[in-house]
Amino acid sequence: MNPPDGEERRASLAATGYADINRAADYLFRSGGKRIRPLLLILSARLCNYRGPHEHPVLLASAVEYIHAAALLHDDVLDDAAVRRGHDTARLLWGNKASILVGDYLYTRAVDQVIRLGNEQIDTVLAEACRRMVEGEMLQFSHRRDLAITEDVYMSIIDGKTATLIATTCALGAILTGPSNEHRDALTRFGRYLGLAFQIADDALDYAAAPAKLGKNLGADLCEGKITLPLLHLLASCSGRERDLVEQTVERSGAAAGDFQSIAQLMERYGSVAYALAQSREFASSAVKELAVFPPSSHRDALEVVADYVVARDH
Ligand code: FPP
Ligand code: MG
Repeated sequence: MNPPDGEERRASLAATGYADINRAADYLFRSGGKRIRPLLLILSARLCNYRGPHEHPVLLASAVEYIHAAALLHDDVLDDAAVRRGHDTARLLWGNKASILVGDYLYTRAVDQVIRLGNEQIDTVLAEACRRMVEGEMLQFSHRRDLAITEDVYMSIIDGKTATLIATTCALGAILTGPSNEHRDALTRFGRYLGLAFQIADDALDYAAAPAKLGKNLGADLCEGKITLPLLHLLASCSGRERDLVEQTVERSGAAAGDFQSIAQLMERYGSVAYALAQSREFASSAVKELAVFPPSSHRDALEVVADYVVARDH
């Protein structure tokens, strides 16, 4: 890896001494993303009437997005993913090794930013969230292509890999502000329900989105052997012969396009995507109920809009 020249270093968001890292990190950040986590952190802090130094929530918001970006870089290696945010994945362009290193770099950069705030409670909750993310991924990894998994195991997987960081992000708004445990706990539950709604909607979109809008390959979960809620619903609803087809498809590594169509048609017949989306809506509405402990405000309204968006989005 060659250090970047001055111009490249100034233009880079990651701005490390290594051109390859800068290029891959910039590529990921500039390719978009919904930036839901930073938004949630800032809104949560405002909802709690944060009055401290302006840069603290901003530093935390960017640290949380760094952690998320690091996790996605590693996730795309684990999933052999080719497309992210409508573009080739970093691993496809620069290889798995560079993707892992860039993820490691972004993660350590986040740690560095967080510990500078000198708030032990923040360090603790974020360290715990990162550990639970990895545990969620490990649980998912240990159950790949496992058609015997229960809805409870699926919920533990998505709670760990997705909902925990979102819950912690929302809690950070309260932790930054002060000692109200009631507000912190309500925001933690809001974020957790929102995270569950988000991941279930993601898993439904994987079978039913318009490919041009999704920004990822449709059917990737089936290909990767991930047993998600729409598939669990289908398995519980279909006939014995149809179950054989589902089993054969899941057991084959890298299901073909035709296989995906057959499974998507079965899901349409049994309402499996609709079931998952209904569950996602339930969690989003549980999330919104948690906001009742806060007086009405534009920040509370904005968090409700995020909850609506999470279930209504098409990508
Ligand atoms: C996306 O799931 C993956 C995650 C939300 C979490 C990934 C976490 C790790 C790889 C652990 C590493 C953790 C740290 C702290 C660096 P998905 O594959 O279902 O979604 P996708 O379709 O967007 O890829
Ligand atoms: Mg993935």
